[in-house]
Amino acid sequence: MSEKSLIHHIYDGIEEHDNHLPKWWLFILWTTLVFGAGYWFWYHIAEAGPGQLGEYAAESAEHAQRMAGNTPASDDLLLNLVKDPTSLDGGKAVFQSNCAACHGAQGQGLIGPNLTDGFWLHGGAPMAIHKVVAEGAVAKGMPAWERTLGAERVKAVTAYVLTLKGTNAAGGKAPQGEPEQP
Ligand code: HEC
Repeated sequence: MSEKSLIHHIYDGIEEHDNHLPKWWLFILWTTLVFGAGYWFWYHIAEAGPGQLGEYAAESAEHAQRMAGNTPASDDLLLNLVKDPTSLDGGKAVFQSNCAACHGAQGQGLIGPNLTDGFWLHGGAPMAIHKVVAEGAVAKGMPAWERTLGAERVKAVTAYVLTLKGTNAAGGKAPQGEPEQP
């Protein structure tokens, strides 16, 4: 660009030269064009990816479903909650404020049985734990929680209890019930 090619115009002492466009500039131009064409083809012609509206609709639906929370509990749903850190944090908070008094802060057992060993009075399967949490074993001193906590918190705290299983917390209460069947 330093070599002077022919001058087309001079206005007020400002010279216009016929230089080549810089390589970096052309690179950006062509990259943008290729990207733009690819984007247009991918999202608008082939519709291979969801557009902005599609993504928004999908997220809203997911959010609505989570808020409505009317999916009945099942082994699969509870095991999925075990993989959801937000739900587990919620479940842990519910446990600390409602369950730790009887089951210990680590679930090691106090008035209520140890939840960290492999032994269960009412069964260790996800839905077995859900049932005893939701409906209680009232005659034996375990309250029913579904009415006080609501379905969502019962699911979340059940998922949290599932994470305690087998952690064998220190100072745990002696095992009660039967070992969980594999
Ligand atoms: C007032 C004390 C008390 C509170 C509070 C309490 N539990 Fe219990 N829980 C018990 C007792 C007692 C048992 C044993 C019932 C039996 O002998 O059948 C029990 C049993 C259980 C069992 C079954 C254990 C097994 O071996 O099968 C689970 C699971 C459980 N509780 C979870 C919870 C959760 C979750 C909470 C909080 C939402 C909670 N408990 C709050 C006293 C309590």
